[in-house]
Amino acid sequence: MQNAELPFIREMFETIAPRYDLLNRLLSLRCDVLWRKALVSEINIPDKGKILDIACGTGEIGIEILQKINTGINVYGLDFSINMLELAKDKIKKHGKESLLHLAAGNAFFLPFKDNTFDAVSIAFGIRNISDKLTALKAFRNSLKNGGMLLILELNTPPKGLLLNSYLLYFEKILPLIGWFFSKNLMAYQYLPDSVINFPAPEDFAQIMIKAGFSDVRWKRMTLGIVNLFIGYKLS
Ligand SMILES: C[S@@+](CC[C@H](N)C(=O)[O-])C[C@H]1O[C@@H](n2cnc3c(N)ncnc32)[C@H](O)[C@@H]1O
Repeated sequence: MQNAELPFIREMFETIAPRYDLLNRLLSLRCDVLWRKALVSEINIPDKGKILDIACGTGEIGIEILQKINTGINVYGLDFSINMLELAKDKIKKHGKESLLHLAAGNAFFLPFKDNTFDAVSIAFGIRNISDKLTALKAFRNSLKNGGMLLILELNTPPKGLLLNSYLLYFEKILPLIGWFFSKNLMAYQYLPDSVINFPAPEDFAQIMIKAGFSDVRWKRMTLGIVNLFIGYKLS
């Protein structure tokens, strides 16, 4: 396992947690809501199935899943930031989903669940914070039942062109200032563009998924390539 920056990342999310949802809406112009809905719309699991949402943050994916899929499924949200989990807990209560959405504190590398437990595993805007992606993906695969699906939503740098320059201007110069203004944490919002720029191109990330043992790997480009939704299956 290589994730030397782990304590830094956890600390960063602990600090920005109270303003995290607000800044997501603001900085993405509410597109984050649509991107999560796109992930949830691809979930295909049996009635009463189990879904693990890794790096669940404030519980946005879990709530969206339970609002969309009403077949007795249970969602398990895992995150290593206690402040994020506290916010998720309040949100789950507000939506009356306590009996179906369960939270656990933990690290994506050491999932506190038995192998072959879940029908689907999701991770939204979390995989780019994990440097050893192959090891993490193998752990996600182990937690899936045979036939289970993995759904990964992640920000990407758009392909070369006019959009790239405007995107980089916004992402590297304007976004950190807005982030700093609202969260008072400049470093966190300087780290965000770096982590996205360093994230592999979609075809390279798909190869890592295949190397981790996933089959039928595909991805859907959204919002001109700013975000990609990756899907793969555990088939043996
Ligand atoms: C950008 S937020 C995304 C939150 C949520 N999935 C969403 O869609 O809003 C990333 C989350 O990943 C968590 N995280 C990052 N690395 C992690 C790791 N190795 N193990 C567990 N959680 C992690 C952070 O604490 C943070 O809550």
